[in-house]
Amino acid sequence: MKICETALVGLALLALASCDDPAKDKAKAITTEATASTAQAASAVGKAAGTAVRYDFDSATSKVEWVGSKVTGKHDGGFKQFKGTVSMVDGAPEKSSVTVDIDTDSLFADQDKLVGHLKTADFFDVAKFPKATFTSTEVKKNDKPQDYIVTGSLSLHGVTKSISFPATIRTNPSAVDVAAEFAINRKDFGLAYAGKADDLIRDDVVIKLTLHASPKAERKTPELKIPADYHSGYLANSMLVTKEPNKTGLKTGVHLVYINPIGFDRLKNGGSTPYPDGTVFVDDVRQFSVDDGAYQQGAHKFITVMVKDSNKYGSTGGWGFQAWLGGDPTKPIVDDSVTQCFTCHVPNKSNDYVFSTYLD
Ligand code: HEC
Repeated sequence: MKICETALVGLALLALASCDDPAKDKAKAITTEATASTAQAASAVGKAAGTAVRYDFDSATSKVEWVGSKVTGKHDGGFKQFKGTVSMVDGAPEKSSVTVDIDTDSLFADQDKLVGHLKTADFFDVAKFPKATFTSTEVKKNDKPQDYIVTGSLSLHGVTKSISFPATIRTNPSAVDVAAEFAINRKDFGLAYAGKADDLIRDDVVIKLTLHASPKAERKTPELKIPADYHSGYLANSMLVTKEPNKTGLKTGVHLVYINPIGFDRLKNGGSTPYPDGTVFVDDVRQFSVDDGAYQQGAHKFITVMVKDSNKYGSTGGWGFQAWLGGDPTKPIVDDSVTQCFTCHVPNKSNDYVFSTYLD
């Protein structure tokens, strides 16, 4: 965008040439009036057969984004808050359905000023239309395996229309991944603001969906136990947290991080390869007291574990998470590892979701 604007000052023609419409080579969604049958079909899909398995979008790994453009450049943005479910029937996308529910007030953009304007009645009018929803009515195979055409009703800005767009859908028992990139005409949904006379906003807006959904049950990990021998592992890291809340978000206490021999080489060598299956990290969080300037560790506050099993825990980066209050094996406290644990470890994706690194 910068380049575009700078160039504009210098040489208008060149600027126009270099500010291509980002929607130019994207598939255009086909938009038609929503009919009663669309609405009926939507509710019929919702009631689909008894073999449907419900997959919920993982907020940490899913994205709803857009690219808007005007004559002098483009802007990227998206929505931070959205929920969605895939109702998977027989593991086949063409028998399944998806619903998405977006909080329009969670809109973000690459410019703070723009966020404010986009939320007003000139555009999304989030006060009046706080939700945008999509409910699929048909998922059809397209030319290549994993390529589909998804049709459904999109309600945006108080307007409901049926749209069809291409998507890549990958499924396995532990996850559904959807990737789609297409252009919609914002004016179809009454988003008619023209922009400045000398810098008109294009009608086509590119929508990018990156959705990762996993069965809710997979977030529960009652099978994980406190590893009996974790004290004999390598002490990868130790930390004393004396204040809560602090910037790490961690509970106060002495944090002692152990790793088992299976994961040790990966810890030591670092790099971008994932930890091998069978790696176990334990973070033993203990009380502490201060005696004449000496910080003494005391009883267990929590014992938390991360166990690597890339197939079983595919939706949480291949790691199973569990924690026990007071280190008591009868008191597991994690029943949704995504929201309670994984989300906070996601920023460390490049280190396979692990915070600790090798200290020599
Ligand atoms: C507030 C963010 C946050 C949340 C929530 C969180 N963790 Fe962590 N976790 C961290 C940080 C920061 C570290 C590294 C510092 C430490 O504890 O030594 C860490 C370290 C760990 C480690 C040691 C391996 C590593 O990454 O260094 C384990 C095991 C662990 N966490 C398990 C869990 C489990 C299980 C949960 C859910 C109950 C959880 N964590 C929730 C931030 C978080």
